[in-house]
Amino acid sequence: MIEHIIVNEVGLRDGLQNQPRHVATADKLKLLDALLAAGIRHVEATSFVSPKAVPQMADAAELMAQLPNRDGIDYSVLVPNVKGYERAIAANARSVAVTLSCTETMNQRNINMGLDQAEAVCAEVMQRAAAEGVTGRAYLSVAFVCPFEGVVDARTVYRLAQSMVDAGAREVIVADTIGWADPIHVTEVFGTLTSHFGADRLSGHFHDTKGLALANCFAAFQKGVRRFDSAIGGLGGCPFAPGAAGNVATEDLVNMFESAGCNTGINLEKLEAAVEVAEHCVGQKLGGSWLDWRRTQHKQHLARAAS
Ligand code: COA
Ligand code: ZN
Repeated sequence: MIEHIIVNEVGLRDGLQNQPRHVATADKLKLLDALLAAGIRHVEATSFVSPKAVPQMADAAELMAQLPNRDGIDYSVLVPNVKGYERAIAANARSVAVTLSCTETMNQRNINMGLDQAEAVCAEVMQRAAAEGVTGRAYLSVAFVCPFEGVVDARTVYRLAQSMVDAGAREVIVADTIGWADPIHVTEVFGTLTSHFGADRLSGHFHDTKGLALANCFAAFQKGVRRFDSAIGGLGGCPFAPGAAGNVATEDLVNMFESAGCNTGINLEKLEAAVEVAEHCVGQKLGGSWLDWRRTQHKQHLARAAS
């Protein structure tokens, strides 16, 4: 049986939120067009957070009003609190994700709430979403290592996942926000979670700080997970989590799973074009290992043709 992998593109949100250079709404839409042309069907489009905290997401409502193919694409948005949820619903969002960090300090730094308050607020948002026919998703951020409190106990991750599922979350996204997890740790945490909640309800979100993001995705895959977040060109990083490097690059993730005989429904050549649009947006060179390899091949081909 060919396994189908769902790639949820988070470049427009996680990828851009930390970029120092302002990215115009029109450029975000061009990037989105390039991603959709490559076959991406799941997109985290933006976040309804405080524009003071994250200026790059200040155009959330404007962007939402111009999203292409609203009925054919699974668009989701991140909301940090009830106000964010209400702004998202007013902008016609049909899927919202809360962000609940697994430690006290990370919640304070990220959304200015302690763990208990953050859990209560996220549960309230998930309950409202369930009652209002909106898909609720819950990020468990710093689920492996917290930049302030160190290694996170897998039992805490399990407890918070249960809390979000009880509140109505359809999906729990387990996030290595700073990219410090390793495949053994991932196997342990996803082993516990998949046996309690089922792999269908879970998703993996990995950053590549130590070059282990792909290995971590594969470890989660071996525990049954088939849904992953990634960012085009390896963009990404949380502004409130020091040391976080980019997300796993979408093109690397697609290349890995296609090479492993899985089906992503995404065209790698067209993803290369999307990386170029992303490079134009942020004014810097991007791309993971697959693109390095591809560009080297291209240069060698040109050199051979010229000789
Ligand atoms: N969207 C827009 N504005 C918001 C908001 C939201 N979701 N939530 C609160 N605000 C506004 C309030 O209306 C208030 O505005 P005012 O000063 O004009 O009256 C101001 O922000 C302060 O409100 P308060 O509830 O006290 O928020 P806060 O200062 O404690 O900040 C968050 C809390 C969650 C809004 C802020 O920390 C945030 O947006 N964090 C973003 C985190 C993030 O994106 N992390 C990366 C992804 S995980
Ligand atoms: Zn992230």
